[in-house]
Amino acid sequence: MNSLIDIRGLTKDYGRTTALREVTFSVPEGSIFGLIGPDGAGKTTLYRILATLLTPDRGTATVAGLDVAREFRQLRTLIGYMPERFSLYPDLTVDENLHFFASLFGVKVRDHFDLIAPIFSQLARFPNRRAGALSGGMKQKLALSCALIHRPRILLLDEPTTGVDAVSRSEFWGMLATLREKGITILVSTSYMDEAARCDRIALLHRGRILGIDTPTRLTARLGDPLYAASAGEMYPLLLALRGMPDVKDCYTFGATLHVVADEGFDPDGTETALRRQGLADVRIRPVEATIEDLFIKLAQHED
Ligand SMILES: Nc1ncnc2c1ncn2[C@@H]1O[C@H](COP(=O)(O)OP(=O)(O)OP(=O)(O)O)[C@@H](O)[C@H]1O
Ligand SMILES: [Mg+2]
Repeated sequence: MNSLIDIRGLTKDYGRTTALREVTFSVPEGSIFGLIGPDGAGKTTLYRILATLLTPDRGTATVAGLDVAREFRQLRTLIGYMPERFSLYPDLTVDENLHFFASLFGVKVRDHFDLIAPIFSQLARFPNRRAGALSGGMKQKLALSCALIHRPRILLLDEPTTGVDAVSRSEFWGMLATLREKGITILVSTSYMDEAARCDRIALLHRGRILGIDTPTRLTARLGDPLYAASAGEMYPLLLALRGMPDVKDCYTFGATLHVVADEGFDPDGTETALRRQGLADVRIRPVEATIEDLFIKLAQHED
């Protein structure tokens, strides 16, 4: 498959902070590519370079064959960019925002409305409400509609689901899948590791460096070691005790439980018994499937 975005050796420094180090990857046309990374990983810096708002110090990036630094004028009409925390004008109404973004690209709101209609349907009920007075989920839908107003080939979405409720988040990923069916290529960033599974391919970004690129399934398979979830009445003593156990390679907090990365020889039943003898109540250890977050923790530790 053709790649629509090609990034080679991209490096960007802000004074002493290196925001991107030798970042290289490509995004196949017609796919959803996820850029997964925690705060400060370099996601927004990469988006600003792709959106032609910032120039890299080293390396190159092309979008649809056009160089982001040299051919930015042609490029801007091919890109729909939804910046972090959205770009809406809070004092303008829903309709005024749409018309404003359409005018930036020299199109009419109705020109490509078929693309936006399914996303916009709930917003259509209050065209005169100010964008600032919308809920998080509604702001997100309006921002996406504005980014699509000129029917771009590539959507650049920087943390579009941050601060949005779980139902709207899930709905949003459904809308991205529909846009992909319509041939739009999507580069989407998130710090919610559970969203990685909704992407065709992902890159794990940590402190400006790519730790891994592949399909979500193939990446999680890389963890290799057996993984267990552990819980007890008191979690912190459990964490300390598990870290001191033989055959435990690593143990860390994972949601409401602990995750235990173990050697092949690890015996969960024997470990439960040993922990009870140490005075821990309600100890439970059971095998679990690895997630992208588990892989991220492992790769980031290795890197640090
Ligand atoms: N204008 C700037 N001047 C100095 N340092 C900056 C600037 N912008 C970003 N940085 C630093 O560069 C690194 C990458 O920042 P960036 O905003 O690209 O990360 P991010 O992944 O988008 O983070 P977040 O999840 O917080 O949005 C961080 O260490 C950040 O503090
Ligand atoms: Mg950011």
